[in-house]
Amino acid sequence: MRYVVGLVAELPPGSSKVVFPDKVKSGVGVFNVNGEFFALKNTCPHMGGPLCVGKIRGTSAAEMPADCQPEVHWVRHGEIVSCPWHHWEFDIKTGRTIFESRQKVRSYPVSIETAEELERLKAGVETVPVSVDGAIVVLEV
Ligand code: FES
Repeated sequence: MRYVVGLVAELPPGSSKVVFPDKVKSGVGVFNVNGEFFALKNTCPHMGGPLCVGKIRGTSAAEMPADCQPEVHWVRHGEIVSCPWHHWEFDIKTGRTIFESRQKVRSYPVSIETAEELERLKAGVETVPVSVDGAIVVLEV
């Protein structure tokens, strides 16, 4: 089932939007990470928190240079979402936790369609009103 999220222009890099297709009652978060779109289920695998309304941020990474003075850097800015309940961090691109774990949140394919392409595919597409011309973000659930 395809679901129209909205116009690309409405989701600039660094932003996200939670949508509620019929098949996913808890919602799906759609993220624009530096011009690439990704979608994650809005249910944290830890205790079910609304993961996709969490802060979009980066994470810290430590480095131990030869002089043994540890350096901590802020990395991957805009690629991590932090669950608002207990702050577990997830890679938006893969749905995997940042820390060593087998935990993963479900991800969904996202495509960018023109209004004309979408019109051709209209049968079977769950839509929301979109009245402006331009590229459209479409979620596959
Ligand atoms: S419910 Fe998300 S970190 Fe606990």
